Amino acid sequence: MSNYKYSTLAVHAGQYPDPLTGAVNVPVYLSSTFELTGIGTDKGWDYSRAGNPTRDRLEEALAALEGGFSGHAFASGMAAIAGLVAMLRTGDHLVCSSQVYAGTVRFFDRIVRHYGIDIEYVDTSNLDAVAAAIRPSTKLVHIESPSNPLMVLTDIAGVSEIAHAHGIEVSVDNTFLSPALQSPLALGADIVMHSTTKYLNGHSDGLGGALIGSTAEHKERFGLVQKAAGGVLSPFECFLVLRGIRTLPLRIKQHEENGRAVAEFLSTHPKVSRLAYPGLKSHPQHELAVKQQKGFGSMLSFDLGSREAAGRFLGAIKIFLSAESLGGVESLASHSATTTHFALSDEERESLGITQGIVRLSIGIEDKEDLIADIDQALGAV
Ligand SMILES: Cc1ncc(COP(=O)(O)O)c(C=O)c1O
Repeated sequence: MSNYKYSTLAVHAGQYPDPLTGAVNVPVYLSSTFELTGIGTDKGWDYSRAGNPTRDRLEEALAALEGGFSGHAFASGMAAIAGLVAMLRTGDHLVCSSQVYAGTVRFFDRIVRHYGIDIEYVDTSNLDAVAAAIRPSTKLVHIESPSNPLMVLTDIAGVSEIAHAHGIEVSVDNTFLSPALQSPLALGADIVMHSTTKYLNGHSDGLGGALIGSTAEHKERFGLVQKAAGGVLSPFECFLVLRGIRTLPLRIKQHEENGRAVAEFLSTHPKVSRLAYPGLKSHPQHELAVKQQKGFGSMLSFDLGSREAAGRFLGAIKIFLSAESLGGVESLASHSATTTHFALSDEERESLGITQGIVRLSIGIEDKEDLIADIDQALGAV
């Protein structure tokens, strides 16, 4: 399978006919338990928390798409992040990008810190800052690139080199680009994390998360976390992600085309400032985006100057739905300060540059001219 090109992998990795019936789609095995064949023997599965045939297929597909050793499906992106840090111990030091989804910060600060794990937020777009943050107790550097919502990039190969020189692992939240547009493991990272809720599912009809490891030890580690902690994805939702994956390359082509067109339109609009889209030459890290990404995706953000202006825009937009989340076929617009980054304090948001005027767009796969016309009329109401 691994020598096939990407679109072929998306359709076929993990998605072969059911050996029992020949069904061309992966069956949804709605069974919590499996009949044993004897004392201590089974047909490959014994209990669905430890493993389920539908989940196995999704995990196989995820590993293939990211070029990893094993895939592990969790109940949500946050459950995957919980799985990622589950094996850290008291006294361990975790370096995390300061620009990340605020739910990650909420989980690290309000839960993981209580286990005596030292969490340090670092501007990982600055490799010197990453090198300076490394301590003898550092076990993991977790980065999100591009970041939510300001589209700040981290040099994945650069961070991996620094971390590996000290025997430290690097994990990358690859949610914003999907495996179709960025391959963190090929760039040197050790573990990839996804909220499959977004582009991998692609239809906004199910939460999900994933970890993709690059070694046999990761397979054992994350397999244990799934079985012992239990935050696994249900068989039905595994099926939905598998179905979404089949059209991922096609969807991403349209997302990408629309994302570029909308970004270009916004780049000339007088009411828009601080437009963040790595595909624009004006983005300060455009060259890094060209180097480490296979495309620029369909996430972008911009500043309308005030909460009131953002509110007027979101009130006037018609095709775009004013809603949290991203990566679905439908276009979404959100006010970052009161949705994805609500978990941060005003001071934290201010220090990161997530001001009250920031609006984030997830550009869907509708007709790009309709989307631009919709944004144009909504900006007219600002
Ligand atoms: C970049 C990123 N990582 C992780 C998550 C968490 O994923 P989930 O909502 O599936 O738990 C999100 C959710 O918005 C996200 O945007």
